[in-house]
Amino acid sequence: MKHGLFITLEGPDGSGKTTQIEKMREYLQDQGNQVLVTREPGGTSIGERLRELILSRESEEMDPLTEALLYAAARAQHVEQVIRPALERGKFVICDRFIDSSIAYQGYGRRLGDSVSIINAYAVKGCMPDATFLLKLDPAMGRNRIEQKQRDRIELEHADFHELVFHGYEELELQYPQRIIGIDASREISEVTEDILQHLERLLER
Ligand code: TYD
Repeated sequence: MKHGLFITLEGPDGSGKTTQIEKMREYLQDQGNQVLVTREPGGTSIGERLRELILSRESEEMDPLTEALLYAAARAQHVEQVIRPALERGKFVICDRFIDSSIAYQGYGRRLGDSVSIINAYAVKGCMPDATFLLKLDPAMGRNRIEQKQRDRIELEHADFHELVFHGYEELELQYPQRIIGIDASREISEVTEDILQHLERLLER
């Protein structure tokens, strides 16, 4: 049985998710809540090893389907070992990327389509976010914020790939208006935070 609240953050690379997650953590903890912040791919020791494998520049020859399956495998481990137990203990779980990343990056970006949703439905076994903040920022702007030499294998993909990913996110936002909250992330950091915290407050009232 699930008691806590599961929140995910999504958006293009360089959209400022990490900064906003820290603000959300502070806000929720100040109200006396127990908060667990985690990320994908990763969040478990097995997941971090898979992250290393997936994102390494040495994994150039990785087939798109292998990539999708590895993200889903890391997610299955993460849900069972970390997310579901924390929710059962009544915690707030904030996760930096989750299932929507796979649908946007592998489904749209790599053009694997619906198979990605199917693989992932199998991986998460019903453990879906209660709310998802989608930080919307022109992917080219996001990428400019990441220094060339720090870019991982996915971030090194050409601009067209990142445009497809962003289009995928917009489709998801239309498809799941109850869950996905679009946030204009091109504004000042403090304005973005204020917007997110207002939505969060409303979520807590529900
Ligand atoms: P992220 O942790 O946001 O990158 P960083 O910490 O370097 O800013 O995500 C790593 C990359 O993995 C990012 O480019 C998005 C990609 N990704 C997918 O393609 N599919 C997925 O399912 C997930 C979770 C991430």
